[in-house]
Amino acid sequence: MGEAQARRVALVSGAAGGQGWAIVRRLRADGIAVAACDIRADELAASVAESGDPDIVPLALDVTSQEQWAAAIDAAVGRFGGLGVLVNNAGVLHRRPLESETAEEFERLWRINCLGAFHGMRAALPHLRVATDPVIVNTCSTGAIRPFPNHAAYGSSKWALRGLTQVAAAELAPHRIRVNAVFPGPVATPMLTEEIQQRLASSSPWGRLADPAEIADAVAFLISERASFVTGVEFTVDGGQSLQIG
Ligand SMILES: NC(=O)c1ccc[n+]([C@@H]2O[C@H](COP(=O)([O-])OP(=O)(O)OC[C@H]3O[C@@H](n4cnc5c(N)ncnc54)[C@H](O)[C@@H]3O)[C@@H](O)[C@H]2O)c1
Repeated sequence: MGEAQARRVALVSGAAGGQGWAIVRRLRADGIAVAACDIRADELAASVAESGDPDIVPLALDVTSQEQWAAAIDAAVGRFGGLGVLVNNAGVLHRRPLESETAEEFERLWRINCLGAFHGMRAALPHLRVATDPVIVNTCSTGAIRPFPNHAAYGSSKWALRGLTQVAAAELAPHRIRVNAVFPGPVATPMLTEEIQQRLASSSPWGRLADPAEIADAVAFLISERASFVTGVEFTVDGGQSLQIG
């Protein structure tokens, strides 16, 4: 196998964020070239420039846009010669009681957290089909295992992403495309305010939040050849959060 064929290429959405950037760095440590994508294109470009790594390309991507997905994947393939790994990590959160949730905000979260991954999988598929050990990892949440109050939009969007991941895993297994999901518990990223981080750390069985690198390690395992027979798996990384009752 030639060197160009051997190199794996990943696209990571939400790459400017806490977990997304940790995943980018982890995949680079494994020698995987990365198309790093985010709607916050300027912040992402600054991080990539600071890294000085020529095998990370920063790309603007709003995951709710089919057109932007097509352009990002074209750019990734143009730069690195193929695409074998897709990490649907982009996501947004808000907490709101049912009666004050709005249809617009509910739909907005669904479009980013679930429809975005659907667009990504559809756009990547032609490239995944011809890649070596193609794999998709979707970032769900323990909010797709347990029913957290005041999470109608977020929780339901992540439960839908969980279901989408399972359907895709079943459908794509005959094509030898692995599809798995990570389910992080609370992670120390800007998605959670300081106050919420403190509250969740004190109620965690482990006594702390996850470091983004700990989620990135789980994603990297699911992508690696060590997980070559692993598909449809729901990989919880939560320090025991979802074991709790009440
Ligand atoms: N932080 C947690 O406690 C936690 C727990 C469980 C699951 N998650 C999930 O992990 C993933 C990563 O979140 P994080 O903790 O790194 O938060 P984060 O806010 O640091 O990162 C999320 C990233 O997604 C990007 N994004 C938002 N809307 C987008 C869009 N339309 N198109 C492209 N990018 C967009 C943001 O710009 C940001 O860079 C999300 O899917 C989140 O729901 C987070």
